[in-house]
Amino acid sequence: MDKIIILDFGSQTTQLIDRRIRDLGVYTEIIPGDSPLTEEVLGSQTGVRGIILSGSPESVYTPAGAVPDQRLYTCGLPLLGICYGLQRMTQDQGGLVEPLPEREYGAIGVTITIPPGMPEHAARLLTGFDSTVPCAPLLTRFTAWMSHGDTLTRLAPGFREYGKSDTGYPAVVIHESKPWFGLQFHPEVTHCEGGTALLAAFVFGVCACKAGWTMEHYLEEVQADLRTQVGANPVLLLISGGVDSTVTGALLLKTLGSDQVHLMYMDTGLMRKDETKTVTATLERLGARYLHIIRCEAEFLAALKGLEDPEAKRKAIGDLFITIQEREVARLGLPDGYFLAQGTLYTDLIESGKGVGKKARLIKSHHNVGSPLVEAKRKVGQVIEPLDRLYKDEVRHLGCLLGVDDAVIRRHPFPGPGLAVRIIGEVTKEKCDILREADALYLEELKKRGRYDDIWQAFAVLLPIRSVGVAGDARKYGWVLALRAIISADGMTADVYPFPMKELLEIATLITNTVKDIGRVTYDISSKPPATIEWE
Ligand code: XMP
Repeated sequence: MDKIIILDFGSQTTQLIDRRIRDLGVYTEIIPGDSPLTEEVLGSQTGVRGIILSGSPESVYTPAGAVPDQRLYTCGLPLLGICYGLQRMTQDQGGLVEPLPEREYGAIGVTITIPPGMPEHAARLLTGFDSTVPCAPLLTRFTAWMSHGDTLTRLAPGFREYGKSDTGYPAVVIHESKPWFGLQFHPEVTHCEGGTALLAAFVFGVCACKAGWTMEHYLEEVQADLRTQVGANPVLLLISGGVDSTVTGALLLKTLGSDQVHLMYMDTGLMRKDETKTVTATLERLGARYLHIIRCEAEFLAALKGLEDPEAKRKAIGDLFITIQEREVARLGLPDGYFLAQGTLYTDLIESGKGVGKKARLIKSHHNVGSPLVEAKRKVGQVIEPLDRLYKDEVRHLGCLLGVDDAVIRRHPFPGPGLAVRIIGEVTKEKCDILREADALYLEELKKRGRYDDIWQAFAVLLPIRSVGVAGDARKYGWVLALRAIISADGMTADVYPFPMKELLEIATLITNTVKDIGRVTYDISSKPPATIEWE
């Protein structure tokens, strides 16, 4: 399958480049900007058709600015440098990059000038779109989106300027004889007019990629890989009940059959209402035969007793999770050759800095990435992560193809430590039960009101505060509940969901009337940053 490699120099928009190109139907891979560009990475067997150099928060003339393997310039593949990527190519090829008097940020006009007799590869990028590509022809005058503190003050030998920004700086630069292109702006950002068309022109027009990246194709490929890799060995998957592990389970069951697949689910007592029932029903519908439900609520509540500090709570949960995991897996008595499957996504690898784009910030570490069992299995090559090339929405699409229930696919994310990070202060069974009821009511109302799918994540938080109220003629001393609802693309940043006040009031009234221990309801109006999505 044809693919485009993206060298990541640490820009916040690297993943956007990736998304835009996948949405055009071409497979992409992000690798660190200074990765060795060996035969294994770029050779003819790999299907790589072109390379994109991403932006970066660094400058090319400082030591912090990563330098690509110089084989980049002899591999013969088309190159597209975006912002820092263009500056990197310029510096590496003998041009000059210097600081701007003032940083440029936001929408800036660009004018393209097409000289007579331009080389064919330049025409392919600027005018020669394949008519089957769903994009408009490139504009000669358009509004680009920029974010840069440096500019090219001398082009590298062999390059020519084809576009200039309204502020007078080179915006589009193309080599005269090689398929090397540079853009000072960010075509991957939606505010950039014609940006997707430009990326499509590079991918299809210049690199001659065929659009072969579809979920149907991925499914066939991943199923063939799974069968070869696993053979007749058993596979064990730890299920959390979320979209990723459920889709992984569905994939394993469909590919390997129910006799080979062991599913283990820990009922920690920190789950949402009826979670174990729902998970069981979903997996049985998908054909699960060996579904091991581990009931360990008492152990988790005992480990959390007396703990108030958020980090101490998270650590206690993580440690116990590992202890139980090892104990229960040993108890299954699977043969040594068994494989451990995980629902790791492409973004998990990026975010944990494991495989791709090591310059990207470390956002969250999943409690299972560092588990000794996973590490031991990884050492002997017995970990399988069949979703690790997919983004969340691609996983949802795959789930649909595999027949996973729509309600599971559309579920909001839920944190590994569960309700423990939504009960502020000490966690007790009584508080878990109160929160479970209130949270279930809240989510049910969102579904009834047709708001659930517009919201990225919604949940209730139980505060360690009791306040006075009245119930009938009596004074009532009830807990305070905070409702949270946010909109987000990926959980890295989030905005508050703008509820109509009338509906918030109705939901709050329903909760205080139904859950007798809740005396007061508040709505969390904090965005991320500065707040995080969860409270602990
Ligand atoms: P924060 O609170 O960091 O959350 O803004 C971002 C997203 O990550 C989820 N989250 C977790 N998921 N294990 C997980 O699997 C965790 O420990 C964890 N902590 C937060 C959170 O629900 C949100 O979707």
